[in-house]
Parts: sequence; structure tokens; C-alpha cells
Amino acid sequence: MQKNTLYIITIGIIILGAVSYFAFNLKKSDNKSEYVAIIPIATHSNGMDFISSSACIECHQQIVEDHHRTAHFNSFQPASKNTIKGSFEEGKNTLRLNDDVTFKFIEKNTGFYQEPVIKDQDVPFYSAKMNIVVGSGTKGQSYLMWNNNNLFQLQASYFTPTNSWINSPGAPDQLAPARPVLERCLECHTTYAQNISGNKNGNQFHRENLVYGIDCQRCHGPVKEHVKYHKQNPYDKIAKHIIKYSSLSRQQRLDACALCHSGLRTETTERAFSFMTGDTLKKFSFPDYDESSLEELDVHGNQYGLLKASKCFTKSITLDCTTCHDPHKKERGNFTTFNQKCMSCHSTMEKPINCSGDKDEIRKMSNNCIQCHMPLVKSKTMKIQIPENGEVSVDVRTHLIGIYNQKVN
Ligand code: HEC
Ligand code: HEC
Ligand code: HEC
Ligand code: HEC
Ligand code: HEC
Ligand code: HEC
Ligand code: HEC
Repeated sequence: MQKNTLYIITIGIIILGAVSYFAFNLKKSDNKSEYVAIIPIATHSNGMDFISSSACIECHQQIVEDHHRTAHFNSFQPASKNTIKGSFEEGKNTLRLNDDVTFKFIEKNTGFYQEPVIKDQDVPFYSAKMNIVVGSGTKGQSYLMWNNNNLFQLQASYFTPTNSWINSPGAPDQLAPARPVLERCLECHTTYAQNISGNKNGNQFHRENLVYGIDCQRCHGPVKEHVKYHKQNPYDKIAKHIIKYSSLSRQQRLDACALCHSGLRTETTERAFSFMTGDTLKKFSFPDYDESSLEELDVHGNQYGLLKASKCFTKSITLDCTTCHDPHKKERGNFTTFNQKCMSCHSTMEKPINCSGDKDEIRKMSNNCIQCHMPLVKSKTMKIQIPENGEVSVDVRTHLIGIYNQKVN
């Protein structure tokens, strides 16, 4: 009898221990949201606060993890060994600008530098620190330098097609002063920057009130209130205090991408970063080229203009950028997914697809629709002159979906 009681007591203690352990942990995870403070990291000129996207992980973990791998997220980063694609290795760390000037790229304890050295001189002409990297490196990168609060673009860039340091596209082949970086440049490459120059052509920015990369809040707006609300109301599964894409018109959805993907634009408003998803883009800026002339649209940076001219767009009422792109995922090279997107419409249409191209060739390419209908086209603007190679330009996927007669490559 006594033995049994002992048994029961022991088991009782074990169960109690296990229950309180789980209860404690449950409580801990229940209260997890209290541990991530909602501290604003920057404030929009409209008064709304940005918070760190790490605060989204708690409720949108998969999206955050996927998004961190995208070109958007990596388009504007602090300079580091990991983010700078150009090489600092001996033998690969120079760029000959002309007969007299050679750039050297140096790694020091204090950071990474561009140093032009003039022939027969021992000390470099200047030593410029690379503070910020613009570009995920898919096609290239450009480097920015802080001088107090003034932001400048440095002369040497990196070009992915040649995997080498280059003189920035458009720069003269002699030493040129660093170019001031204007807010419009940052508007397309990062989430938020505050211009403190007093006018739009100044290059002074608040160095702390800056959100790197094209992050969640670039497309969804500053969301401090959303996070605050859902932390306080964990059982409300209906999104609050957030712009809803699903309630936007087709044009509003397109405009949210066209802000940065419709080529260079002329602004009608003073403030960069004032456009927010849901707004009508033409109230903020208009294209500074003839929209109706396809010749003028470059494949680089103008996906909107080209798509708009395609039959898939004009003859359907739903097609927008997100029909084919999941803005949270890195999808480059994922042809199977893209084929499915084409087929999502073309397999449901009365008219069966009739690609009279060489049937064997089509089969060999496992029906890679875009190879033939959205071919790679050389950019007219993203190109450089290289002494050994002549002109080298980047290939960009055209968004003018159509029938091309050119030989498939
Ligand atoms: C405490 C939980 C919580 C946090 C933290 C949170 N969200 Fe949400 N969010 C929700 C809930 C709940 C929904 C509604 C269900 C859903 O769509 O997943 C939602 C929905 C959304 C939607 C979809 C809106 C729609 O219906 O179109 C967006 C966009 C969004 N959140 C963005 C963010 C961003 C950006 C962050 C981080 C800065 C964030 N959320 C942080 C709980 C949270
Ligand atoms: C704030 C400006 C901005 C907005 C808004 C924006 N993009 Fe981008 N997008 C960029 C920039 C800049 C790049 C190039 C990033 C890089 O490689 O550094 C890019 C790259 C891309 C790429 C190529 C990704 C890759 O793997 O190389 C796709 C696809 C894309 N954007 C689609 C979209 C879609 C769809 C939307 C709307 C939902 C959108 N973008 C909204 C600026 C923007
Ligand atoms: C109107 C929006 C816009 C402006 C302004 C803009 N860019 Fe871009 N930029 C883009 C888009 C969109 C892409 C990529 C998509 C493409 O190639 O079509 C891109 C690509 C790049 C790339 C190549 C990125 C990569 O990884 O392939 C670099 C580098 C770059 N831009 C630097 C700059 C710099 C520096 C400035 C300002 C001095 C600037 N851009 C101004 C929209 C813009
Ligand atoms: C380039 C713009 C862009 C960026 C950056 C972006 N989103 Fe979105 N997001 C969208 C669009 C567009 C939709 C609507 C997609 C649709 O309707 O097909 C969306 C939908 C959502 C939704 C609701 C639908 C779903 O997929 O669950 C959530 C939640 C969300 N985004 C959260 C985030 C979070 C968190 C981040 C940052 C890690 C983020 N987004 C970054 C453009 C963006
Ligand atoms: C009909 C499908 C479709 C639509 C709609 C579409 N895209 Fe794309 N997009 C693609 C495909 C396919 C690629 C090539 C992806 C690859 O190379 O892996 C691509 C590539 C891109 C790239 C990278 C270009 C390059 O070569 O570096 C950008 C940027 C982009 N899309 C932006 C947009 C924007 C912005 C919109 C809306 C205006 C849009 N796309 C609409 C299918 C589409
Ligand atoms: C939202 C639905 C939709 C999607 C997605 C779509 N298309 Fe289309 N596409 C159409 C419609 C509608 C037409 C016009 C058909 C007609 O002329 O009756 C069309 C026409 C075409 C044409 C003929 C163009 C011409 O100039 O004659 C080609 C080629 C084509 N699509 C290829 C594609 C490819 C490749 C993709 C995927 C990258 C794609 N489409 C995605 C709806 C779509
Ligand atoms: C090897 C190149 C090639 C591939 C791959 C290819 N097509 Fe085509 N496609 C063509 C050619 C060439 C035509 C023009 C046919 C003609 O009019 O003579 C065409 C015509 C079309 C048309 C318009 C003509 C019609 O019958 O309506 C559509 C739509 C189309 N293709 C969709 C697709 C889709 C979707 C895929 C992927 C599943 C695809 N194509 C793959 C070469 C190709």
C-alpha cells in the first residue's frame, strides 16, 4: 500500500512538473509579442512611423524569410565584405581609368575604399569610403559615400556581366567629382530617406531616419499601428490599419509597381517618398518620354510601359504585375512557375495555343514560353565601353509579350 502511495506521489510530481513546464512555456510564447518592442526606426513626412521589419516575423515568418532573399530587399545596403561584389583581392582590385589614372580598391580596418592613383605618384589622389551599396548585384552595383550628411555617388562601380570594377555608366574617362545623390535615386532603391537639404535638388539626408532596402513598408506603408493593434488583439485575424491590395483597382495595383518600374519620370510634387500604395501615380509624376513610342522605352526599368503595350494586357481585364510575380519571393530563373502563369490564362482560352515554331525545339525547351515570347533584349541605357570588349550591355527580359521572329537562343 505504502509503496503504491509513493508511486502515485512520484508520478503526481512528474505530471505536475510536466504540466507546469508546458504551461510556463505556453505562457512565454503567448506573451512573446510583449518581448519585441514596437520602436519606430523612422518617421514618414506624413507623420506615420516605420518599424523594423523584424517585428513582422512573429506573425508573417515565411514572408519575411522569403523577402530577405529578394533583389528588392538587397537593393540598398550598408557596405560590407558580404554586400560589395567587387573584389579586393590583389590582381583583381584595380581599374585602369586612362593612361594616367588607375583606381585601387582597398580593404582597411575602418572600411572599404576607392583610391585613384595618378601615374608616378606614391599617394592616392583621394581615398573615398564606400558607405552604401546600391544594387543587389544582379546586373551591377554602385557605391555611395557620406561626407557629413551629404551623400555622393562614387566614380567606380561594379558590373556583373564582366564581373569587374568599371567606370560608372555615363562618367567621363577621367577623374570626375563624386556626383551628389538626389532623393529621387533613393526613392526607387530604398524604403525611406529624409531629405534635410530644404529642396529636392539637395543631397543632405538624415543619417538615422533611413530605412535600408525595398522592405515591407515600401509597398505596404508604415505599419506601426497595424503591429500595435494585432499585438493587443491576437485573436483578430482580419488585418487592421494596413493598406489592402485586394481592395485596390487594377490601375492602383499597377501604379504601386510603376512608381519605380516605368522609367524616368518628371515629378509634379515636391516630395519624393510621398506616393503610397493606393495612390494614383499620375498625380505625382508623369513619364518624361513619349509613352506611345515603343522605340523610346528601354527594357531596363520600364516593365510597365512595355507590358501595357502587350496584347495579354490590352485584351484582358485582370493582368497586372502580380499575376506573374510574387513580390515576396526571389523567382529569377524559376521558369516552371512562369510557364504556369502563362498557362493560367492561355489554357482557359477558347483559342488553343498554336506555336507554329519548330515543335521539336519547343519540346526541347520544355515549353519555356518566355524564351520565345519575352526574350532577353540588350538595354540601351545600361551599357559600358570596355577597351578589350568594346560595348557591353546587360540583357533584360522584355515585358513586351509578343511574337518574335528572331532565332531562339
Ligand atoms: C501581432 C501580429 C502581427 C504582426 C507583428 C504583424 N502583422 Fe500583419 N497581419 C496580422 C494579421 C492577423 C493579419 C490578417 C491575416 C493575414 O492576412 O495574415 C495581417 C495581415 C497583414 C497584411 C495583409 C493585409 C491585407 O489584407 O491585404 C499585410 C500587408 C501585413 N499584415 C503587413 C505586415 C507588416 C509589414 C508587418 C511588420 C512591419 C506586420 N504585418 C506585422 C498580424 C500581424
Ligand atoms: C521603391 C521602388 C520599387 C517598387 C515600388 C517596386 N520595385 Fe521592383 N525593383 C525595384 C528595384 C530598384 C529593383 C532592382 C533591385 C536590385 O537588383 O538592386 C527591382 C527589381 C524587381 C524585380 C527583379 C527581381 C530580381 O530577381 O532581379 C522584379 C520582378 C520586380 N522588381 C517586381 C516588382 C513588382 C511586381 C512590384 C510591385 C508589386 C515592384 N517591383 C515594386 C524597385 C521597386
Ligand atoms: C525611377 C526609378 C529609379 C531611379 C530614379 C533609379 N533607379 Fe536604379 N534601378 C531601378 C530599377 C527598376 C532597376 C532594376 C530593374 C531593371 O533592370 O529593369 C534598377 C537597377 C539599378 C542597378 C542595378 C541593380 C542590380 O542589382 O542589377 C543599379 C546599380 C542602380 N539601379 C543604381 C541606381 C542609382 C545609383 C540611382 C540614382 C543615382 C538609380 N539607380 C536611380 C529604378 C530606378
Ligand atoms: C514590392 C512590394 C512588396 C513588398 C516589398 C512586400 N509586399 Fe507584401 N504584398 C505586396 C502585394 C502586391 C501584395 C498583394 C498580392 C496579391 O494580391 O496577389 C502583398 C500581400 C501581402 C500580404 C497578404 C497576402 C499574403 O501573401 O499573405 C501580407 C501578409 C504581406 N504582403 C506582408 C508583407 C511583409 C511582411 C513584407 C516584408 C517582409 C512584404 N509584404 C513586402 C507587395 C509587397
Ligand atoms: C505575363 C507575366 C509577367 C507580367 C504580367 C509581368 N512580368 Fe515581370 N517578368 C516576367 C518574367 C517571366 C520575367 C523573367 C524572370 C527570369 O528571368 O527569371 C520577368 C522579369 C522581371 C524583371 C527583371 C528583368 C530582368 O531581366 O532583369 C522585372 C524588374 C520585372 N519583371 C518587373 C515587372 C513589373 C514591374 C511588372 C508589372 C508592370 C511585371 N514585371 C509584369 C513575367 C511577367
Ligand atoms: C491574364 C491572362 C493572360 C496571361 C497571364 C498571359 N496572357 Fe498572353 N494573352 C492574353 C490575351 C487575352 C491575349 C490576346 C489573345 C487574342 O488576341 O485573342 C494574349 C496574347 C498573347 C500572345 C499573342 C501576342 C500577339 O502580339 O499576337 C502571346 C504570344 C502570348 N499571349 C503569350 C503569353 C505568355 C508567354 C505569357 C506568360 C509569360 C502570357 N501570354 C500570359 C492573356 C494572358
Ligand atoms: C520555340 C519558341 C516558342 C515557345 C517555346 C513557345 N512559343 Fe508560342 N509561339 C511561337 C511562335 C513562333 C508563334 C507564332 C505562330 C504563328 O503565328 O505563326 C507563337 C504563337 C503563340 C501565341 C499566339 C498565336 C495563337 O495561336 O494564339 C500564343 C498565345 C503563344 N504562342 C503562347 C505560348 C505559350 C503560353 C507558351 C509556353 C507554354 C509558348 N507560346 C511557347 C514560338 C514559341
